[in-house]
Amino acid sequence: MSAPGFYAQRLQRPGAVLAPMAGYSDAPMRQLAAEQGALWTVSEMISARGLVSGGDSEKLNLGRPYPGEAGRVVQLFGAENEVLAAAVARAEAWFAPAALDLNMGCPVPKVRGRGGACLLQTPEVAYELVRAMKSATALDVSAKIRLGWDTDRSVEVAQGLAAAGAALITVHGRTSAQRYTGQADWDAIARVAASVDVPVVGSGDILSPVQARERAGCGVAAVMIGRGAVGNPWIFRALATGDETRPGPQERAQMALRHAELQEQFYDDTSGRLTLRPLRKVLPAYLPEFPELREALVSVLTVQDVRSALAGVLSGQAGDQRATGPSAAEYAMSHS
Ligand SMILES: Cc1cc2nc3c(=O)[nH]c(=O)nc-3n(C[C@H](O)[C@H](O)[C@H](O)COP(=O)(O)O)c2cc1C
Repeated sequence: MSAPGFYAQRLQRPGAVLAPMAGYSDAPMRQLAAEQGALWTVSEMISARGLVSGGDSEKLNLGRPYPGEAGRVVQLFGAENEVLAAAVARAEAWFAPAALDLNMGCPVPKVRGRGGACLLQTPEVAYELVRAMKSATALDVSAKIRLGWDTDRSVEVAQGLAAAGAALITVHGRTSAQRYTGQADWDAIARVAASVDVPVVGSGDILSPVQARERAGCGVAAVMIGRGAVGNPWIFRALATGDETRPGPQERAQMALRHAELQEQFYDDTSGRLTLRPLRKVLPAYLPEFPELREALVSVLTVQDVRSALAGVLSGQAGDQRATGPSAAEYAMSHS
């Protein structure tokens, strides 16, 4: 028998998976999640066509690992077999992924026309895409779906994907038409988990370790956390080790500062466009009970700006006694 693939190996440990999130799950966020014990992380989605046809630096940044990164899955979107196969080969050569994932869930119109959740309407196209991806790599190939386009077809789609050779299927428990409204349907996710032989990862609305444990009981191999991990990498530590201590403000401020430092190191971009601006929406989530810091945090440009904005909390002088207010996860949810 061949050695277990990446997913089978990682699923031997307890823990949760960091969700792919365009604009969020970049190398610095993945690094913090991995350090806190995430089972694996998934890149932001990358256009297969863009990857094959051009090497613009923004696309490279989407896939590029941080130094020493292991356990990062690269997610591709697209709808053409040859393009996906070529993109898999390129991603493997450039980005050293642990596995490759097909995006079948993005509801954004510009993506829909070429793949993403559009594939839920023509799942036979997706089955061929998985076969094409597998023909280009020996690594695990997985797919991430929503329940369906506007009705739930998830069991049928998951069975087709498994038959095509997907090593794992992630299910976000909403239809594409729902986008991010309503509540993720974990009963539907459980039905998928019961209907296929490959591991199923469940995704949707997990904001706390307690919720994660409840959801994990529905038969999934693991749960995935997206918005609830923004400004809150400790959620992975809680699920990997059982240590649910929520760090105090000083430690959270230190992590926010470290996130900014990693961001600066990774992007190394003198225009400032790719450096700290994308972090402006993230930094306040580390310290939700300090709304007075928000204005300064959403206008940072340099690591020094972050240090200055957080100076009071970093020095331990600002309010360890303060009422906690909304958790970082609740904050992340209401601002996504
Ligand atoms: C800002 C944002 C960007 C996202 N980008 C992607 C993506 O690139 N690929 C993907 O498969 N899902 C993407 N998703 C969906 C998430 O991976 C996840 O399935 C969804 O947010 C539900 O999980 P959560 O409630 O834990 O956030 C994105 C979600 C958000 C909020």
